[in-house]
Amino acid sequence: MLIAPSILNADNLNLKSEITAAVAAGISRFHIDIMDGHFVPNLSFGPQLVSDFKREFPDITAEVHLMSDNPEVLVPAFVEAGADIVELHYEAMSEAELTKWLTYLNDHHVKAGLVLSPDTPAAVLSEFAPKLAQVLLMTVYPGFGGQKFIPEMTAKIKETNELLQGQLPIEVDGGINAETAKVAQAAGASVFVAGSYLFGKGQIAKQVAELTEALR
Ligand code: DX5
Ligand code: ZN
Repeated sequence: MLIAPSILNADNLNLKSEITAAVAAGISRFHIDIMDGHFVPNLSFGPQLVSDFKREFPDITAEVHLMSDNPEVLVPAFVEAGADIVELHYEAMSEAELTKWLTYLNDHHVKAGLVLSPDTPAAVLSEFAPKLAQVLLMTVYPGFGGQKFIPEMTAKIKETNELLQGQLPIEVDGGINAETAKVAQAAGASVFVAGSYLFGKGQIAKQVAELTEALR
């Protein structure tokens, strides 16, 4: 079990102290949401945030959730910036492009993840599985923090777990709190992204402890 806080809803002007507090609470991976204003109707961070992050926190894993249909420009940029994991959306490019960029990540020794939006069937994962280190199932429609977990995604987590037969970790992202995390865990998820639940209350250590306890 791993908790990967999404810094999307952290205090942008105090990111370093927010990340430091989460690390002190035991966090070893951060989920960095990259939104391009085109694939999703919102804008967030760029590669410089990732390079600054790795300079300040070299031992902490930087997981990039790329919500963009411009892999040509952004995948090399985030690899160059030092991302440890890059997760690509199935819906953002053709299957040929997806194969190309997953291979690119494998060749650059950056862990590759494949992300499925809520309406994309789990079955598409099979052919890409050999190139993946992880699968990310969106439990909200991508674009914004603070949304509600979509209950129908529980069955999709189970289906994905059966399909992959435990070969790859299943991560969930969107609307994760102490209750929904338990439901997702029971269905087979082992990596939990949480944004507003962890950063929205100004008590990161307490929130990390509560989520950790819920998943014990
Ligand atoms: C949504 C993002 C999520 C989200 C998580 O597009 O990928 O990472 O910000 O935030 P919460 O936990 O608030 O749903
Ligand atoms: Zn995300």
